[in-house]
Amino acid sequence: TYEKLWLVASLVLIVGFIATITYGSVALGITMVGDEEPTIEPDEISDDERFGEPRVEQVGENEYEAYVIAQTFIFQPETIEVPADSEVTFYVTSRDVIHSFSVVGTNTNTMVIPGEISTLTVEFDEPDEYGIVCNEYCGDFHHTMEGQLHVV
Ligand code: CUA
Repeated sequence: TYEKLWLVASLVLIVGFIATITYGSVALGITMVGDEEPTIEPDEISDDERFGEPRVEQVGENEYEAYVIAQTFIFQPETIEVPADSEVTFYVTSRDVIHSFSVVGTNTNTMVIPGEISTLTVEFDEPDEYGIVCNEYCGDFHHTMEGQLHVV
């Protein structure tokens, strides 16, 4: 009957739709809504093995990870140094209020929210010196909150 045909047809459509979404998100590495965001409570930061000691760590031949804490009105570490021709993944969290981690003159910019870990990966090809600033108003000395990024 026609009814049965329609049923089969719509089932095929639904399966195809789901397959497309699944394939698309896997292929593009998109994080689907509902996946757990990495989190860390501000009072756990000091004891955390990643953030207890804010730093840059080499994790591969040209790969680095930077663990950065934002708090009124500083970034830790204050100066981040990485070699040229490297890929750096920044993990940034806040100890108190909302800040941002913004590398001046680049599109490297993320909000930093207490309780969450902001992650972004950036490639640095050439030696250069960048300022790091906070773009979210975080108090009286917001405008003084800055760090340095040295690509050497
Ligand atoms: Cu931190 Cu503005």
